[in-house]
Amino acid sequence: MELRDGVKAQFRKSHNLARKHYDEGNMAKASVEYLKCAKFLEHLADMSPRDKRKELLDRSRKFREIAEGLKEGTVRVYTDGVILPEEGVEKTPRGTIEEEKTAERVKGLVLAEKPKIKFSDIAGLAKVKENIREAIVYPFKYPEEYEYFGVKPGGGILLYGPPGCGKTMLAAAAAAESDAAFVSLKGSDIKDKYVGESEKNIKEIFNVARSYEKAMLFFDEFDSLAGERSGSMEGHERSLVSELLSQMDGLEAKGTTKRYLVLAATNRPWDVDVALRRSGRFDTTVFIPHPDIEARKKILEINLQNKPVSRSVSLERLAELTEGYASAEIADICEKAAMIPLGERIKEMTPRREITMEDFDQVLKEKKTVLASWYPKAVKELSGTGEGEMFRELIEAAREYG
Ligand SMILES: Nc1ncnc2c1ncn2[C@@H]1O[C@H](COP(=O)(O)OP(=O)(O)OP(=O)(O)O)[C@@H](O)[C@H]1O
Ligand SMILES: [Mg+2]
Repeated sequence: MELRDGVKAQFRKSHNLARKHYDEGNMAKASVEYLKCAKFLEHLADMSPRDKRKELLDRSRKFREIAEGLKEGTVRVYTDGVILPEEGVEKTPRGTIEEEKTAERVKGLVLAEKPKIKFSDIAGLAKVKENIREAIVYPFKYPEEYEYFGVKPGGGILLYGPPGCGKTMLAAAAAAESDAAFVSLKGSDIKDKYVGESEKNIKEIFNVARSYEKAMLFFDEFDSLAGERSGSMEGHERSLVSELLSQMDGLEAKGTTKRYLVLAATNRPWDVDVALRRSGRFDTTVFIPHPDIEARKKILEINLQNKPVSRSVSLERLAELTEGYASAEIADICEKAAMIPLGERIKEMTPRREITMEDFDQVLKEKKTVLASWYPKAVKELSGTGEGEMFRELIEAAREYG
C-alpha cells in the first residue's frame, strides 16, 4: 500500500496543476500535466493488484485523451475526469508547444518520490536480490568502500527473464533501497513515431539524471526501446541505439562523487539491439527466473490473505500445482478462483461460500502458462547468436523447465 502513496501524491500534484493551467487557459501546460497524470496512473497500475489495474489503466487512457485533446484543441470542457468534447471547436495550430514538449514530457517521467516497495515484498529470488543489492544498492550506499578497494561501480545492469516474474518489482525495490534519484522509463513511453524525437527524449532523460548527484536510470521494457526487428532496424532506430550508447559513455563522471547507474529490464533479451548487448555497457546481466516452490507458496499467501479460502485448500498443494507458472499468473489464478463463488453469489444469489479446491482446479484446468512457449522461443532466439554465455542462466532454466 505504502508503495503507491508516493505515486498517488505525484498524481494529485499533477492533477491540481493541470486544472490550474486549464483554468488559466494555458492549454499547452495543462496538456503536459494531464499526460503526467496518465503516466502516474500507469505506474500505479504496474504496482497494483490485477483487479485495480484495469480501472487505473482506463483512467489513464482518459487522461491521455484529455492531454491529446488539449494539444489539438478538441477538448474544451473538462470536469473531474469526465471529458466533454465540444463539436466544431476551432483547432489551435500544432507546434506552439513543441519546444517545451520534450523537456516537459521527460520531466514528467521522473518519479521525484521513489517507490516504497521492499525486497521483502517480493517472493523468492533470494540470490537475485543479493546480486541486485551488490550491483545497485551498495555502490550508492558505500561509494567510499568501492573507492578504497579500487572497484569501479557503475555501468549498466540488464535484468532479463520470463514475463511476469518480478523484474519491474525488483527495479522498484532497488530504487527504494538506494538513496539515488530514480528516473524510470518504459520503452513504449519514449518511443515516438516521429523520427528524431526518441533521440531527443533519450538525451533529455540523461540530462535529467545528470542533474542529480546520484541517479539510477531505469529503462523498463528495454526491447521496445532498443529493439532489433528481424535484424534490420530502420535508420532512426539505429541512431537511437547509438545515442543510448554514447549517452551511457557520457555518464562516466571521473574524479567526482557523482554516481549513475543504468538499469534495464526485458523479457525479450534477443530483441535488444546486438550493439547494446555486446557493447559491454551492460556488463552485469541478472536472470530473473520463474518462482520456485517456496516463492510460489509466498505468492499464494500474499494473494489469498484477504480472500475467504476454505480450510480444505492446501497452499502446499497449490504451490505444487502451479509449478511452471509465472508469478503474475499465480496472482491471477487466485483472482480467478475467487471470481467463481463471487459470480455465483451475484448472478445466482446463492449464499456466500468460501473458495474451494474445486475452484482452483477449475481455474488451473483452463489457465495455461505462457512460459511453456516463452522458454523454447528464448532458446531458439538465442541459439547460434554467440551469446549463450551472456544468457547462460536462461538457457539452463529452459533446459530444466523441460
Ligand atoms: N517475485 C514476486 N513476488 C510476488 N509477486 C510477484 C513477483 N513477481 C511478480 N509478481 C506479481 O506479478 C506482477 C507483475 O510483476 P512484474 O511487473 O515485476 O513482472 P515483470 O518481470 O516486470 O514482467 P514483464 O516482463 O511482463 O514486464 C506484480 O505486480 C506482482 O503482483
Ligand atoms: Mg515489467
